Amino acid sequence: MNIILLGPPGAGKGTQARHLVETRDMIQLSTGDMLREAKDSGTEMGRKVAEVMARGDLVTDEIVIGLIREKLEGDSKGGFIFDGFPRTLAQADALAELLQSTGQSLDAVIEMQVDDEALVERITGRYTCANCGEVYHDVTKRPAVDGVCDSCGGTEMKRRADDNEDSLRQRLMEYYKKTSPLIGYYYAKGKLHTVDGLADIDDVRAAIAAVLDA
Ligand code: AP5
Repeated sequence: MNIILLGPPGAGKGTQARHLVETRDMIQLSTGDMLREAKDSGTEMGRKVAEVMARGDLVTDEIVIGLIREKLEGDSKGGFIFDGFPRTLAQADALAELLQSTGQSLDAVIEMQVDDEALVERITGRYTCANCGEVYHDVTKRPAVDGVCDSCGGTEMKRRADDNEDSLRQRLMEYYKKTSPLIGYYYAKGKLHTVDGLADIDDVRAAIAAVLDA
């Protein structure tokens, strides 16, 4: 199964994608993670995208489509979870072509609906394990032992440079201007399913599982 998790910054896409990787042997393709890796590697492309991401703007379609193209050529295991991609209509068209050219198809688009007010708290409280990337939150998802990752035992936690209120407002603006039209696009294609992203993490998991198992 190949699916898209669609929603604004902080909707819970990464949190749910990691669960699907663990339980369904799927492959998470997060363009945000790929761009952060490029940024940390100090390559020319990394330097170009660093400033764009810190501002909360979108990176060019050409760069992100190139990143996804490389990944689709590899093993698909239980299927791909597109997390944070596509974000523009051009990216959505490119994804359809890429899937077709590799003999695959898109099974479902899951829109995670959230209230904008909740996003500030989610984003400003988020941190991740520096070793395995497990996502935590100061209030809603703390590790069993403070400072120790439940998944890998790592003790280094990090926060993202763009997880501040100013950058979040710009990311939200980009979402409403460029990404939210994809909701209508995928509805018209008969692929759209909506879940309540404001529910507890376990309830969101169950709602997504219901879509995938239907
Ligand atoms: P990206 O990394 O994709 O960030 P994003 O879309 O802004 O989404 P986030 O990762 O911030 O949120 P999420 O929905 O994954 O939430 P999470 O699960 O972590 O993109 C970053 C930047 O890269 C972009 O701004 C852009 O510059 C660039 N970029 C990336 N892709 C691009 C593309 N395709 N085209 C162009 N540019 C691109 O959850 C958030 C917090 O809430 C966590 O702390 C979590 O524990 C908590 N939480 C999650 N679910 C719940 C729940 N149900 N209840 C309570 N708390 C919850």
